[in-house]
Amino acid sequence: MKTWMMLVLILSGILVEAQSTMDEKDEKIARQVQELLDKMTLAEKVGQTNLYNGTWEFTGPVPADDNSQEKAELIKNGGVGGMLNVLTAKGTREAQKLAVENSRLGIPLIFGYDVIHGYRTMLPVPLAQAASWDPEVARKGAEVAAREAAASGLHWTFSPMIDISRDARWGRIMESAGEDAFLTSVMTKAWVEGYQGEDLSAVHTIAACAKHFAAYGFAEGGRDYNTVQISDQTLYNVVLPPFKVAADAGVATFMNAFNELNGVPANGSEFLQRDILKGKWGFDGFVVSDWGSIGEMITHGFAANDKDAARKAMRAGSDMDMEARAYEKHLEALVSSGELDEKILDDAVRRILTIKFKLGLFEDPYRYCDEQRESESIGTTENLAVAREAGRKSIVLLKNDKGLLPLPKDVKSIAVIGQLANSKDVPLGSWRAQAVTNSAVSVLEGIESAVSSDTEVTFAKGYTLTTGRRTFIHELTIVPEDETGFDEAIAVAKSAEVTVLVLGEDCFQTGEGRSQTDIQLKGSQLALFRELMKVNQNIVVVLMNGRPLAIPELAAEAPALVETWFAGSQAGHSIADVLFGKYNPSGKLPVSFPYHVGQEPLYYDRKSTGRPQTNATDDGLVFWSHYTDAPNEALYPFGYGLSYANFAYDQLKLSKSDNGVTVSVSITNTSSLDGIETVQVYVHDVVASWTQPTKRLVAYKQVELKAGSTYTVEFELTEQELGFYHQGYEFYAEDGTFVVMVGGNSRDVLKKSIDLSF
Ligand code: BGC
Repeated sequence: MKTWMMLVLILSGILVEAQSTMDEKDEKIARQVQELLDKMTLAEKVGQTNLYNGTWEFTGPVPADDNSQEKAELIKNGGVGGMLNVLTAKGTREAQKLAVENSRLGIPLIFGYDVIHGYRTMLPVPLAQAASWDPEVARKGAEVAAREAAASGLHWTFSPMIDISRDARWGRIMESAGEDAFLTSVMTKAWVEGYQGEDLSAVHTIAACAKHFAAYGFAEGGRDYNTVQISDQTLYNVVLPPFKVAADAGVATFMNAFNELNGVPANGSEFLQRDILKGKWGFDGFVVSDWGSIGEMITHGFAANDKDAARKAMRAGSDMDMEARAYEKHLEALVSSGELDEKILDDAVRRILTIKFKLGLFEDPYRYCDEQRESESIGTTENLAVAREAGRKSIVLLKNDKGLLPLPKDVKSIAVIGQLANSKDVPLGSWRAQAVTNSAVSVLEGIESAVSSDTEVTFAKGYTLTTGRRTFIHELTIVPEDETGFDEAIAVAKSAEVTVLVLGEDCFQTGEGRSQTDIQLKGSQLALFRELMKVNQNIVVVLMNGRPLAIPELAAEAPALVETWFAGSQAGHSIADVLFGKYNPSGKLPVSFPYHVGQEPLYYDRKSTGRPQTNATDDGLVFWSHYTDAPNEALYPFGYGLSYANFAYDQLKLSKSDNGVTVSVSITNTSSLDGIETVQVYVHDVVASWTQPTKRLVAYKQVELKAGSTYTVEFELTEQELGFYHQGYEFYAEDGTFVVMVGGNSRDVLKKSIDLSF
């Protein structure tokens, strides 16, 4: 027998064995859960559905009746299923003891926390990670986050946040992977796999949570918590796909959302939770509500009171109540009176207990409470190295006229200017879990450690962006105008060979409750840029922000523009790696940057309309879909990002294959530097029963191209890439003409058409 055949047989044998061991494990857990469920009283079952906030920290409005003592008693009586914001090996052990050593059945608690982009070691914010277009960045980052969180006693992260967002005004766009369903899906799979690993019971993995189900990113006007009204077409084809990927990847939990969707709050949506998630997708983990959101169904005008909200949410498939305390108060009575079928409650409890078994908590409830491991695993050099690598891969080079970048290491003098340049805190980003305040490497520090000993580095603050307290929960005070630092900055820039000017946002301008109507640079930043340009034309503008910004002046006038987002604990080093060419930038925008906020929501996968741009005439008639005072197009489009190398696309070929179409394109690195290019494939289904976007990302590959080399990249597009969800949530492709577009961003593409039938 040929060796490869032997190998295939052995491998399939191993796979079958692994699968059956998995099945046996699952069957055993199912039996154990049922045995336990059979022993539980109604009150104990209800207890499992309560998720309480710990007293250590809070991340939302504190419930009016918050009372730690009362909570402790309830835990002891088996009245609580899990806690959030209880931290450290010691803290979680103490809380766990209350449940395990006092309650009748000793059912362990599950401890959850918002580990959004790292626990102590901060990875770049999720939007930045998505800008790497590299799932390994997401996977390795999630592994680091999981290792640190698990070592601190945690079992469960409320991440990934995979809400598609097309609106830069929404502060939570920073927590997302941006505007595109395909890119978000790629990152989602990697995040889930990174957090959960192969085995949830391993001491370095944690359960993930796909949130917020669903359509939270479509809040009207980008205003957080606002109403969401979207079509079935958008829901099925844009919002749901990443969530389906999360379910298919085995994500342990889902979180529903604060918003209503087309008139029904997510918590009360049987359609989302029962029909789609637990029905069509066969999701067998549990659904947790968002903070207090079951109770908010009353203010939405969907439930009459707490009891009504509890009944509606449980019936709709919300298994666990985060801090509304509606289940705690009313589920028992609802079941006893027959208003709620006990089978529905049993299903919720079964799901919660199953995850606890999978985490290994019944074998040893203290398995994650190891102070020794905690002291060795958090903020390690290895973890920081992952953060540095993730940071530099997330950076997007937007402009490099005059070839100002990369900077030579032995440049004589550099002026580093801007309050953000010196900040050791802003790069940590919002939703920063247990990051230590002011612990990031600043841009200034990064530059100082990258340059030669002969280089003179001078810093000037230039502008003041914020004043007063900067916290996750309080409003931020932006300084409207302040030119007091201008003279010093101008003097410093004047005498330097190169100026690195850091502009952007404070990290607390983004995150929950941080929507803005204005997405230009705040305060005196732009005024300072204009003044500096008068005295030194060699300005590299480094942007630090968590949302797309409207920066047409910078795009027009700055010779070099580098998007660095909030790049995490090692930000300064990651940024310096790119500025000095130690890393050749490879990031691509996961969101469109507008000229003007009035273009929002702005996204690349738009419909043609009946009157597209091609209808515009030279005689100045207005009858086409446009603004009279701003372009339709993005300032920097989705998928855009430069390298210090240059790539030329050529020879796009399409040929029919058994299942669809084979696409090939040749790419030449026309520069003298090696570089990485992200080759993107978009399609347009020209005539369809539901009109389709004029382009939609369906595949991409990252290729490393040696200087001067040419490489042919191939893609197979099948019904999966060419089809779409139809009315009734049915997925299939329609026969007809498809335009296939390939390029290094969503705007500059080669295109060809092909007729296909399926
Ligand atoms: C947020 C969630 C978060 C939860 C717990 C809510 O306000 O919307 O994303 O997981 O708080 O902190």
